[in-house]
Amino acid sequence: MDFQLNEQQEMIRDMARKFADERIAPMADKTDKEHRFPAEIIEEMGEMGLMGVAVPEEYGGAGMGYVEYVLAMEEISRACASTGVIMSVNNSLVCDPILKFGTEEQKKKYLVPLASGKKLGAFSLSESGAGSDAAAVSCRAREDGDSFVLNGTKLWCTNGNEADVVILFASTDPDKGSHGISAFLIEKGTPGFSVGKLEDKLGIRGSSTAEFVLEDCRIPKENMLGERGKGYKIALITLDGGRIGIAAQALGIGKAALDAARKFAQERQQFGKPISSFQAIQWMLANMATELECARLLTYEAASLKDAGRPFTIYSAMCKLKASETASFCANKALQIHGGYGYTTDYPVERHLRDAKITEIYEGTNEIQRLVVATLVLKGLHGKG
Ligand code: CAA
Repeated sequence: MDFQLNEQQEMIRDMARKFADERIAPMADKTDKEHRFPAEIIEEMGEMGLMGVAVPEEYGGAGMGYVEYVLAMEEISRACASTGVIMSVNNSLVCDPILKFGTEEQKKKYLVPLASGKKLGAFSLSESGAGSDAAAVSCRAREDGDSFVLNGTKLWCTNGNEADVVILFASTDPDKGSHGISAFLIEKGTPGFSVGKLEDKLGIRGSSTAEFVLEDCRIPKENMLGERGKGYKIALITLDGGRIGIAAQALGIGKAALDAARKFAQERQQFGKPISSFQAIQWMLANMATELECARLLTYEAASLKDAGRPFTIYSAMCKLKASETASFCANKALQIHGGYGYTTDYPVERHLRDAKITEIYEGTNEIQRLVVATLVLKGLHGKG
């Protein structure tokens, strides 16, 4: 068992850390306050290979693995959780399924620009009546000649307002339930496809969360991703990978909260000494660091199992569950350590608390992650023990 990072992994972590500190962190407050999509940062990240970390170089990516992706995600999200989720969706919810299920033509046409950061992707599964119950998709794709004609409304789509390409799930055969759902690649500007309401959110305010409206939107048959009726499975397999990315985002938020808490505790004087000298504060810092390290180990393990081509569904659910709750725990404690200062927007910890919350909700709520873990535990397919 080797818990050490190799040279390549250290290299990408250090590169992402430097970029995060120098370019992203100084803008994070503005990104949040102005609900501003960090377009220039995303462009630079594309040039650095961060928008398709685990995609082979021949398809425009950095040619690395999921462990490297997770290391970079943590660093980027430590500086700005909005930038983190934009990166995560493009890498794991868009590039990953095109690489896995796309035809050679789809890879050339869509994956190359997405993985190299020239285009941005989004993943559209949820609807008003299909959230946790993702199989309840009502958006309809009717076959018509050499096309499918799509009608319906999708919700909660991260990157939706800026995305050039969307992987969208619709029912081609409603009588077949989850086996009647298919995945489509839809380009921005396709007639009949429009962005509807943009959500005004508690956190991750620099990323958009959009509604999509499909009105007789005609998609050529060659834009179906994977086989007809396999969309639900493609979505769940994709989310297994996506949840590792969200776990890494949560690690970054938790680390940012710990860093802020440590700094403040060492500077803030009360009763004639820094508050870091009081055991009450030290125990909070110790618990934060310990919980973060547990979450980090689970996340790295999930990523390395995925890289090794081994089953990782339970680890993906566990790491998302653990890391997201740890991020909220750390942000909460960091705010407590800051006292009244932490409750103001003069310090970053209130942003970390707001950003942390969504990691417990999107790409499957933590209730769904517990359901996934419990289902596998009941089948005797739990971790190592
Ligand atoms: N990998 C591959 N296949 C899987 C799978 C997995 N991880 N999990 C289940 N399946 C397969 C099953 O084998 C089964 O196949 P068959 O029908 O061929 O037998 C099929 O999928 C259905 O399985 P279940 O009956 O176990 O699944 P279910 O329909 O009862 O529900 C669920 C499972 C866990 C509740 C699932 O629907 C789920 O994860 N829901 C949450 C959805 C979600 O995460 N949404 C987030 C959307 S993205 C987002 O947040 C927005 C964004 O932009 C970031």
